[in-house]
Amino acid sequence: MPGVSSETAVTDVWDFAVELRSDPATAEARTAVLAEPAFGQAFTDHMVVANWTADDGWHDQKVTGYAPIKVSPAAAVLHYSQEIFEGLKAYRHADGSVWAFRPDRNAARFTASAARLALPQVPEDAFISALRALVTVDEPWVPSADSGETSLYIRPYMIATEAALSVRPAREVLFGVIASPAGPYFDTGPKPVSIWLTTSTIRATPGGTGAAKCGGNYAASLAGLAEAVANNCEQVAFVDAVEHKWLEEIGSMNMFFVYADGRIVTPELSGSILEGVTRASVIELAADLGHKVEERQISADEWKDGVRSGEITEVFASGTAAVITPIGRLAWPDGDLTIGDHSVDYGVGPVTKSIRSSLLDLQYGHIPDHRGWLTRLA
Ligand code: COI
Repeated sequence: MPGVSSETAVTDVWDFAVELRSDPATAEARTAVLAEPAFGQAFTDHMVVANWTADDGWHDQKVTGYAPIKVSPAAAVLHYSQEIFEGLKAYRHADGSVWAFRPDRNAARFTASAARLALPQVPEDAFISALRALVTVDEPWVPSADSGETSLYIRPYMIATEAALSVRPAREVLFGVIASPAGPYFDTGPKPVSIWLTTSTIRATPGGTGAAKCGGNYAASLAGLAEAVANNCEQVAFVDAVEHKWLEEIGSMNMFFVYADGRIVTPELSGSILEGVTRASVIELAADLGHKVEERQISADEWKDGVRSGEITEVFASGTAAVITPIGRLAWPDGDLTIGDHSVDYGVGPVTKSIRSSLLDLQYGHIPDHRGWLTRLA
């Protein structure tokens, strides 16, 4: 069932020149990728690029062949990390149409991230027109509706390209969009991941860039992730920078805690947590399913004590790439706890499962889109 298009009063759409590449992937090569897409490994034939200069604003918007981009070794992004990005997915529906999930949210967050990183604004309608320009040209790369939990992952980004080593906002910038067919996050359906609660590294600080989607935040999470892996865990959870006790987020996902009485708690937006599009959607969908959702501070001790006492029955993480990822184990330097009943359904709890299905049913057009969260791209 197709969703509702949010194509209304478009005011600032860019026109893209289209330069089709002369050597696109063969149908066989594309079919091979689409048969077994992994996350972020293979890319479509084309990409969007647009240039900005302080003197001329945005110009030269085009869809062109996917290829390495040339930047000076002195480009500000390489030295001072003046960079932002977004992540969203396009879903093929049963009638063949292709839809993005809440791209207006990604566009608005891109605008906010740009302001925080002193980068120029991409008008929100222009952002969506860039997604549509690329997906229109590379539509055959969107996995088919009957291929399971597959989609086209779209990665818009903006980098400071000016060759200048002074520390100041760059006067030359590149905006781009690339896309990659993405498969299910898990081979055998949603499988719980293990989380290491780091006490030695902090992801983001008050007044810092934690709420912006910029590469630096992800770089700052990597030492914690390496610590997690060294401790036999798959992902890392961070606490706040001031009291070192309030849960913030998992490197690239937000967190949700399901209580025995049906309540769901998620850390409130502190200014150093990324406001996930999936997070915001889960809050609404969980309320539709009859859950009371609390956005508030939750401490690492409340997590541990709640699991020990049985008050917390399920924990999951949310994100565009990972959708809803169940959490089955929490470990930290002095302890280790199993979460949920691992003897059934790989340890995925019923609340996690129902929220996950509601979200996916909406994204794939299996249920009506009453809120107008879907925007048609092709
Ligand atoms: C996404 O879920 O789209 C993200 O941004 C996570 C990504 C860094 C893998």
